[in-house]
Amino acid sequence: MTQRRVIRTQVGIVGAGPAGLMLAHLLGRSGVETVVVDNRTRHDIETTIRAGILEHGSVRMLLDNDISDRVLTDGYEHEGIELRFDGQGHRIDFADLVGESVWLYPQTDVFIDLAAARERDGGDVRYGVTDTRVENVLDAPAIEFTDADGVDWRVECDYLVGADGSRSICRRELPESMRRSYFREYPFAWFGILCEAPPSAPELIYAKSPHGFALISQRTDTVQRMYFQCEKDVDVDSWSDEQIWDELQRRVDGDGFELKRGNVFEKTVLPFRSFVCEPLRHGRLFLAGDAGHTVPPTGAKGLNLALADVAILHRALADHYETGSTTGIDAYSDTALQRVWKAQHFSYWMTSMLHESPESNAFDRKRQLGELTSVVSSRAGSTWLAEAYTGWPQR
Ligand code: PHB
Repeated sequence: MTQRRVIRTQVGIVGAGPAGLMLAHLLGRSGVETVVVDNRTRHDIETTIRAGILEHGSVRMLLDNDISDRVLTDGYEHEGIELRFDGQGHRIDFADLVGESVWLYPQTDVFIDLAAARERDGGDVRYGVTDTRVENVLDAPAIEFTDADGVDWRVECDYLVGADGSRSICRRELPESMRRSYFREYPFAWFGILCEAPPSAPELIYAKSPHGFALISQRTDTVQRMYFQCEKDVDVDSWSDEQIWDELQRRVDGDGFELKRGNVFEKTVLPFRSFVCEPLRHGRLFLAGDAGHTVPPTGAKGLNLALADVAILHRALADHYETGSTTGIDAYSDTALQRVWKAQHFSYWMTSMLHESPESNAFDRKRQLGELTSVVSSRAGSTWLAEAYTGWPQR
């Protein structure tokens, strides 16, 4: 067996999704060296369909750090969303309520921009690696892996960041005795489609109907993304295009609104889960994004939360390398978790307000309508939603 090649870096990052690459990019701009590894190929990550909404703070991160301004040309600014119930739409006007907007710009595009920026800047990113393991997170962290050409590597680093998604291998390094895990499972899932059709609406529609929830989202002028609440064990292939369209339509019916139908070319089931791991640090290991927490997709918070984590972590690590201070890194977990729990609440709240639960009775359904009416008929209620949806200020 040939010997492992050893490299030294300042921050080793497991996971080359948007969180890992954004952190590597920001640290690079602050003069801190990184090595990023991911077991997926660049092509795998580029072709995985993920959510599509960026908070204004996430957009600013792309624009202000010399990553790409493609979001301005290929993305779509949305100044509101529609909440639809009892057959009627109610617009939540973000621009009027909080002076902010969000952008429809899929996570895949965020990844493409970050991967191109890393390549442009000469960042060390190893895609398609195998047999990744991490060790010594308390004193001398290291990542070992085999690269795509079969060469064995050992990356020795000062700090290790687990940005390796919900099935994180890094999270396992937090001993059971000090790790607290908080879970909520939901008794339903989302059936997601991509279709070839013009947009049915200019902004996202979050619809509650007696038949369950539906979300009308978009991608481009010719491709649309839509979802509807379904059973957890649904077999997507057993649904014909016509059944899908009929199901979506009956969930948005009322006041003459008609979906624009087209060929469905992609069908998937999205799992629905809320999860937080505390703390987000153990010794020299930090968790960021889905490695530390998962939200259900209803509030579009997953990617935004991951980017907010790495904004905090970047400042903490950059400050540490510049001044030697550990104040930022010591505060990382608590600081990040404040936003995480706000987003957990928001995602849970949107989910529970809009979905039909098999456990709920007529009282629960009437109460949900009362809740939706309170939100749309009160400026205070709508403002709270607008503030959370567009994103609280980054710290
Ligand atoms: C999407 O377009 O994929 C999307 C948008 C908003 C959500 C979830 C998913 O809340």
